[in-house]
Amino acid sequence: MSLEIRILPDYDAVSAMAATELETMLAQKPDAVIGFATGETPRGMYRELVRRQPNCRQMRTFNLDEYLGLPPDHPGSYARYMHEALFDHINVQPEHVHLMRGDASDPSAECKAYEQAIADAGGIDLQVLGIGRNGHIGFNEPGDEWTEGVHIVTLAESTRIANAPAFGGNPDDVPAQAMTLGIRNIVQARRIVLLATGATKADILAQALTGPVTPHVPASILQEHPSVLILADAAAGQHLGGNAGHGR
Ligand code: PGA
Repeated sequence: MSLEIRILPDYDAVSAMAATELETMLAQKPDAVIGFATGETPRGMYRELVRRQPNCRQMRTFNLDEYLGLPPDHPGSYARYMHEALFDHINVQPEHVHLMRGDASDPSAECKAYEQAIADAGGIDLQVLGIGRNGHIGFNEPGDEWTEGVHIVTLAESTRIANAPAFGGNPDDVPAQAMTLGIRNIVQARRIVLLATGATKADILAQALTGPVTPHVPASILQEHPSVLILADAAAGQHLGGNAGHGR
């Protein structure tokens, strides 16, 4: 097992190192399959990649999750987020980008097709993750089954509150359900880099990395993965000092 924790001075340092992780992967394997995450945390990583312009011509991409019911051009959709933050500004080929259709007429079939597309691509080489304040990864909320593949979830109220700013501030306007890669898909990624920044993540990050491995803290599964890099800024890593920099 290898869980490496790097505590870096600030958000920009986390973003820069995350961008380097992706560049390193693409240097080793130009057609690597990358699992991307959304949320506020990885925005700096994406800005940095846009600035650096690594060659992404052969890169293939999947995303962690999407709100159910939202068309790809909806301002709150993760499809739109990814295009605006990254895909429209790098040389990734459109046919290599795989995004779930939130407005699919048959969401269960959409989940199955996405699962199959990941398998057909040979699995995920590098999965980028954020962590929810409740410990979720993707939209795998506390208590959800860990055996699931791509599936439909009902969002925790705390998640709808946390994500309300992208929907004008009202949690009721955040879709109640989403599609997400399951924990099974996430842990099948050959390498995982999890980004955590800001003091609001400090407690949950410490619980996830040093507490019991339990579905009540979905990110705690990462303790059992063979190749994980945690990039935290000083605020998010404030309870992790003793582990910083050590593999385990
Ligand atoms: P955030 O979201 O990056 O906006 O904090 C993380 C998450 O919910 O996974």
